[in-house]
Amino acid sequence: MKKYLILTYGCQMNENDSQRLGGLLQKIGYEETTVMEDADAILLNTCCVRESAELKIYGKIGEIKGLKRDKPSLIVGVCGCMAQKNQKALFKRAPHIDFVVGPNNLHDVPNIIAQIGEERKHILATDDGINTESDHVPTVRKQGMTAWVPIMYGCNNFCTYCIVPYVRGRERSRTIAEICTEIEDLALEGCREVTLLGQNVNSYGKGTDEGDFADLLRAVNEIKGIERIRYMTSHPRDMSQRVIEAVRDCEKVCDHFHLPVQAGSDVLLKRMNRGYTTEYYRDLVRRIREANPNATLTTDLIVGFPGETDELFEETLAFVKEMRYDAAYTFLYSKRSGTPAAEMDEQVDIKVKKARLQKLMDMQNENSLELNQAYVGRTVEVMVEGPSKSDEQTWTGRTTGNKIILWPYVGTEKVGDLVNVRVDVAQTWLLKGTLQERG
Ligand code: SAH
Ligand code: SF4
Ligand code: F3S
Repeated sequence: MKKYLILTYGCQMNENDSQRLGGLLQKIGYEETTVMEDADAILLNTCCVRESAELKIYGKIGEIKGLKRDKPSLIVGVCGCMAQKNQKALFKRAPHIDFVVGPNNLHDVPNIIAQIGEERKHILATDDGINTESDHVPTVRKQGMTAWVPIMYGCNNFCTYCIVPYVRGRERSRTIAEICTEIEDLALEGCREVTLLGQNVNSYGKGTDEGDFADLLRAVNEIKGIERIRYMTSHPRDMSQRVIEAVRDCEKVCDHFHLPVQAGSDVLLKRMNRGYTTEYYRDLVRRIREANPNATLTTDLIVGFPGETDELFEETLAFVKEMRYDAAYTFLYSKRSGTPAAEMDEQVDIKVKKARLQKLMDMQNENSLELNQAYVGRTVEVMVEGPSKSDEQTWTGRTTGNKIILWPYVGTEKVGDLVNVRVDVAQTWLLKGTLQERG
């Protein structure tokens, strides 16, 4: 049997696409391998959200050149967002690539592989978002307790720094029926936690008669066997009171709000085309905390956006401190050609960017630690994920607020169980505790 290996970069949407690609390859008689040297086909499912992602991927493509020299029959495909962005330029830079396939052409991969013969030609399939056939390629997962389920594809927001809308095409939602059937099947196979995926889940259902994201949450909440529901990513502008209330009412929907703010300065938010002000966001968080007092709050932040002065950066620092985030994912602004921000004046010097990032991270780490310390002595409900990476006898899981917790393995806990763990130690990124008797 021929063997394939898929290397995945980028976000959960890409992880899900890789599972769908794997399914397509299995259909044409390939089986998975984890050993590069054994593979007959290596696919890179790529990300281009920041330049650093692209550089890493180019490095990997370079490594694969050596493998192909030793095994000329090896098929090398570049799929995903970077394929869509760079198109033919990829062949120029790395002629050993056989095909380049964008996220809207996943379904073409089996045909393309069948076309590849002794004599190699470069094959390109990068339709724009009008082709939605790929949206209906089913996910083939290994059975597990967690699963990602796409609820919508594409993005219409065009934040001025972001490449995603250009490579993922226009927003389109799956039906509630299709999503629920997939999750019901997952539950029957033993899945306990689903994460609903979309670039902007709060605009789910727009332009359809499907109802909105709140309706979807309420529908998924009814599915037997599923214990926890997560979702990402929320756009603050579109987070409605209806969704806040659905999260409050639905027992299985986790008490965690990931609300990327990107900047804490109105000047920058406007330049980013985010569609909200700090005042709006502050009020949104107030309403969320009012409805869900135990909810955790996390965010994404971009440092060094064009025009970010020391003063504007200080505004972001102050805002982040005020919001008291449980965690923040912080990124250096990366110029993406083709986006409006790449053309803006006042690009920030890299040294300045890095110094600001450090300052922001230091401040946030203090915040995170302080908030985690408040958990010490409390008992939290945790879904068991299994042994931690470093130690078979230390098990790990997450709270409803998405905090990672470690505890010494007792022997009664099983993967997918909901157990009680008493928190003994708090660190910046995780908690440590002791498993409690089931009560
Ligand atoms: N649709 C999601 C996720 C987009 S990508 C959302 O809107 O939140 C994830 C994060 O990458 C973004 O939240 C943003 O913080 C960051 N990001 C996107 N483009 C970037 C760029 N050009 N430079 C640096 N960070 C970027
Ligand atoms: Fe990019 Fe903005 Fe769309 Fe998120 S909402 S994917 S940051 S354009
Ligand atoms: Fe995801 Fe990266 Fe594409 S973040 S949508 S894989 S550009």
